[in-house]
Amino acid sequence: MLTFRTIKSLTQCLLGYRTSSLRVGFVPTMGFLHDGHRALIAESVERCDITVVSIFVNPTQFGPNEDLERYPRALEADHELCRKAGVSMIFLPDASEIYPPGFQTTIEPGPVAEPLCGAVRPGHFRGVATVVAKLFNIVQPDVAFFGHKDFQQCAVIRQLVRDLNLPVEIVTVPTVREADGLALSSRNSYLGPTDRQRALCLSRGLLAAQAAYGAGERDSQRLIAIARSQITEVDQLQYLELRNANTLEAIQGLVDQPAALCVAATIGPTRLIDNVILDLSSARPEENRSSLTKTSAAASDHLSTGVA
Ligand code: PAJ
Repeated sequence: MLTFRTIKSLTQCLLGYRTSSLRVGFVPTMGFLHDGHRALIAESVERCDITVVSIFVNPTQFGPNEDLERYPRALEADHELCRKAGVSMIFLPDASEIYPPGFQTTIEPGPVAEPLCGAVRPGHFRGVATVVAKLFNIVQPDVAFFGHKDFQQCAVIRQLVRDLNLPVEIVTVPTVREADGLALSSRNSYLGPTDRQRALCLSRGLLAAQAAYGAGERDSQRLIAIARSQITEVDQLQYLELRNANTLEAIQGLVDQPAALCVAATIGPTRLIDNVILDLSSARPEENRSSLTKTSAAASDHLSTGVA
């Protein structure tokens, strides 16, 4: 496994592989890697000849009062995880490598970036779209892998790739959860034991709504109310919304198309997001929490086929 800190050294090395027409897979990350990242890497290692992982805490996607400075970092552990997972190259640039003096061009995503996290974190998806486009141009991967956990991010990236004709296939990977349902996130490391316990109400609520959907409930307001009734232990509920799983348009009335039930909330100083997919392959009522991953996988298949 090779580590590159400069664009020049990475692209020089990749050039050799590209001429031998090997398939390059790419997993962009901000580090502090966990089993969710590992699932993306595993998918890339399986589908591609070469897997490039970038580790870059992108300053432009953090708001002024967000956690850029204290975002968790663990480079040695990240290296170890990548090495064991079969990663070929790590790209580990400094901020000045990605944003040199004089940098001024950004990508402004459209309506897909406006609701949900886009409304709560102004400019966030501009930062994400810009850095992902830059990383795509640097790595020039055949395939890039993103997690369902950041559902709106997946939609923004698909739209970006479609709108700008970027020659990369986007594959989305189901959310990886702890055994008790908590979606893995680098930010879970902020949670003390009490807050971690409180955080479980998010997946509990989403799962309850998914089970109700599986039992035949199609009324969007009732589905949201079912989830809301479980989400009682958060400090601030930023949103709990049902959206079209492909376009992210709001769903009112009946859920008669694949939908994503998305939540964001703060627990103490920590902001967490999560979501589940509701579509015809969703959980049946008798299924328990372990079905969540299975259901997400089925939904992911559905969404992956809508490759940008
Ligand atoms: P980061 O939060 O490090 O996540 C990197 C990738 O891992 C994203 O595609 C994210 O959706 C995925 N991921 C995170 N938790 C996951 C989980 N529990 N299960 C499955 N996948 C999971 O997302 C970013 O970084 C940044 O915005 C980035 C795309 C790198 C741009 O800076």
